[in-house]
Amino acid sequence: MSNPWRTQVGIVGAGPAGLMLGHLLHRQGVDSVILENRTREYVIDRVRAGVLEQGTVDLMIATGVGERLRREGMRHEGIHIAFNGRRHRIDFAGLTGGRAITIYGQNEVVKDLIEARVAAGRPLFFEVGDVEPYGMDTDAPGILCTIDGEPRDLACDFIAGCDGFHGICRPSIPATRLQQYEREYPFGWLGILAKAPPACDELIYSNHERGFALFSMRTPSITRLYLQCAPDEDVGAWPDDRIWAELRARFETSDGWQPNEGEILQKSVTGMRSFVGEPMRYGRMFLAGDAAHIVPPTGAKGLNLAMADVSRLASALAAYYSSGAAELLDTYSERGLRRTWRAQRFSWWMTTMLHRLEQDTAFDRRRQLAELEYLVSSRAAMTSLAENYVGIPFDEDLGLGTGKTRRV
Ligand code: FAD
Ligand code: DHB
Repeated sequence: MSNPWRTQVGIVGAGPAGLMLGHLLHRQGVDSVILENRTREYVIDRVRAGVLEQGTVDLMIATGVGERLRREGMRHEGIHIAFNGRRHRIDFAGLTGGRAITIYGQNEVVKDLIEARVAAGRPLFFEVGDVEPYGMDTDAPGILCTIDGEPRDLACDFIAGCDGFHGICRPSIPATRLQQYEREYPFGWLGILAKAPPACDELIYSNHERGFALFSMRTPSITRLYLQCAPDEDVGAWPDDRIWAELRARFETSDGWQPNEGEILQKSVTGMRSFVGEPMRYGRMFLAGDAAHIVPPTGAKGLNLAMADVSRLASALAAYYSSGAAELLDTYSERGLRRTWRAQRFSWWMTTMLHRLEQDTAFDRRRQLAELEYLVSSRAAMTSLAENYVGIPFDEDLGLGTGKTRRV
């Protein structure tokens, strides 16, 4: 059968990783097709991350998709850590030479990237069925799929597996070619979006006897809140009154601070795991974002790791197409794993420091409080948290994340 459908890079998944990769490749003259199995509405409406590192913000602004982010994103120069009834501020800007984070919802990032893709007239398909990469270990890889009920065969030079943790790309790698490292946590997060103005202008991470709680926000009128819960918690067991009562209890501090309450617009439960698959490449297929690694959300690293992956992958592919040099492709995984493991350590540390474990002994509890006391009383410890939270600059080969923004 002749195969008229062909592209340079076949991208599986239209989450932040797949969409940003398509965008960066287009800007560098490399052709791609993005295949997503869910609907456009599902992809946009899915409420997830909200914290962008400076590297992610720089990348979006430098590549022309940061207009709304620049207008609506909320720059935060610190966070609060609460325990034992007291709140302590960690001054990111003061501890890291002016670095900060930006609050801007992942669904807004996805919306901006879809808009850019459509405006560029580049192919992006939703509701694609039966996606199946093949031939990754040959010179002629491709992706089988079904679009509008029609079986299709997309021939590509490379495949980018940007299809998240539950996608098809990573499982299509032979088990002997992928080393997997994993840890599941015995708790999850119940997350809500509430129609209430944020009662504090920075995030609050609270370690409480009843369990962890996190105060965040999306806009000047929308608050985002999380409660530690069982990994398989039934959302139905959490009527609004119970959620607010639990939040009030877990955020109680001597200064009387409490989150503002309002209509709950969305509720969901997420389990938590740490996962790394090595290497992030199998032949002509490259994994990026959650397809390659998962971090527990406490350190706010997942989306930012995904963005760092695709900025590295896009520059490696662009170098390959402009000069035939494969060196950056060959070091893509190794460079990415260094950043990934650094984020894994930090996310694990934040998670274990802030959550309660049922099996914790009185010793464990006192040790946890001692760790928190040390954190908020030592400039060195606060600097360690701050520099990891704001994130290390994206790879210098893009010239981004250094405070300078450069067109790529
Ligand atoms: P995804 O967003 O999972 O996108 C993958 C896409 O591939 C999806 O659209 C999926 O539908 C599609 N797909 C899957 N299988 C197939 C298939 N077979 N064929 C075609 N398409 C397929 N990160 C942060 O940095 N900061 C935070 O503050 C933060 N908070 C979080 C809070 C919560 C509650 C959660 C759950 C996550 C949070 N994260 C955070 C993590 C962040 O949301 C993820 O790391 C991010 O979504 C990864 O993007 P991705 O594009 O790699 O994967
Ligand atoms: C948010 C999510 C996180 O995982 C985090 O650590 C901080 C904030 C958020 O959704 O706003």
